[in-house]
Amino acid sequence: MRKPIIAGNWKMNKLAADGARFVLDFRSHLPMGDKVDVVVCPPYPHLPLVVEAARDYPMDIGAQNMHFEDSGAFTGEVSPEMLKDLLVEYVILGHSERREHFQESDELINKKLKAAFDHQMTPIVCVGESLEQRVQNQAYDFVESQVKAAFDGVSAEQAKVAVVAYEPIWAIGTGKTASSDDANDMCAHIRNVLKDLYDESVSEAVRIQYGGSVKPANIDELLAKSDIDGALVGGASLEKDSFLKLLEAGANA
Ligand code: PGA
Repeated sequence: MRKPIIAGNWKMNKLAADGARFVLDFRSHLPMGDKVDVVVCPPYPHLPLVVEAARDYPMDIGAQNMHFEDSGAFTGEVSPEMLKDLLVEYVILGHSERREHFQESDELINKKLKAAFDHQMTPIVCVGESLEQRVQNQAYDFVESQVKAAFDGVSAEQAKVAVVAYEPIWAIGTGKTASSDDANDMCAHIRNVLKDLYDESVSEAVRIQYGGSVKPANIDELLAKSDIDGALVGGASLEKDSFLKLLEAGANA
């Protein structure tokens, strides 16, 4: 049994103090950490305050991106070592917004993935097709190529702890969700790709999230599916009530 994992991706939203208050507010609720892994990914400047707010509470903090080098002349970038120094446990890599707006390539994402493992951070590797690719029946091949490129040269021991987020681009922030069957079919395909790359012990261990307009109204159906182990959530992770409902759904899945 894979433990469900619900991660909130705040993207470029909230101010640091609001983020810390959001996390502190969760402390009045019973911790659900033994039944679901909870991750919150604020913007970089919020990380110290948010990590502090989550201290001794079963909620892990993640970054939304990072560079792959530890230090150097990379103006505007943040290194894995810096994140680790702040006690950041997770890092989202290859989000479609990074791929699209910042031209992140498969090769770059592969380097970042290896850097995350080198620093004992858990990567949440995002993959997903565009609407055009889905319409032209290229979604499966495309996502497969993204998974293979991301995990190139990654050992089985490392791969086992990775989280993969299947996020069809056309479902992100649009209110359109993939049907639970379509989402599950792609997550099962990703698991098969991992089985081919490694073996069943890896493919059965990796947790695969669905992402794209996940909300309280659709999460139960998604989590009931065989190969969906959680959700990567944008919009619905920004409000306490909706995020709490998603966590409860994760704990009950
Ligand atoms: P959304 O974003 O839940 O707002 O669609 C998901 C994501 O981009 O991770």
